[in-house]
Amino acid sequence: MMKDIREIIELGNPLLREVAKPVTDVQSPEVKDLIRVLDATCKASKGMGIAAPQLGVSLRVFVVVPYQYGTDFKIRPEPIIVINPKLTPVGRKTEEDWEGCLSIPGLRGIVSRHTQMNVSYIDPDGESKTIKVDDLVARIFQHENDHLDGVMFLDRILSVKDLITDREYFRQAEEQK
Ligand code: NI
Repeated sequence: MMKDIREIIELGNPLLREVAKPVTDVQSPEVKDLIRVLDATCKASKGMGIAAPQLGVSLRVFVVVPYQYGTDFKIRPEPIIVINPKLTPVGRKTEEDWEGCLSIPGLRGIVSRHTQMNVSYIDPDGESKTIKVDDLVARIFQHENDHLDGVMFLDRILSVKDLITDREYFRQAEEQK
């Protein structure tokens, strides 16, 4: 399992800015390896999602771990493996909330996202799926999908004043308890 954990590339690395290519053969050993490595790396980093470009792999694949608000991070939900996704907003409702990224350690920003999305994608067995996601899970899907287009959450913040360090974020969260 340890050998499946890869280094996550960070902000400034030009690979994060590339538009990733669609997967043509879902069942190929390369794609199977990629999925295993993405999941292991996400788990080791305690992330709620990770996209292939964050490992320097230019393919339209990401993993979402659908934690819900208020859950502790000890019980990990079954990850959703997403290949060649297409996201469509449901309605016009948006919501602002804090977002972080494994490729931008130590920093969070307020990002506006659609509250509800339809997601069509291919699963690791090659099956076409369509699911409806909302709230935090919809946010994670939009964040990870952005990575496939070379977009970072920092591109979506309205002001530098909407940034906070991790340390300050947790200090404020503690204060509000
Ligand atoms: Ni990210």
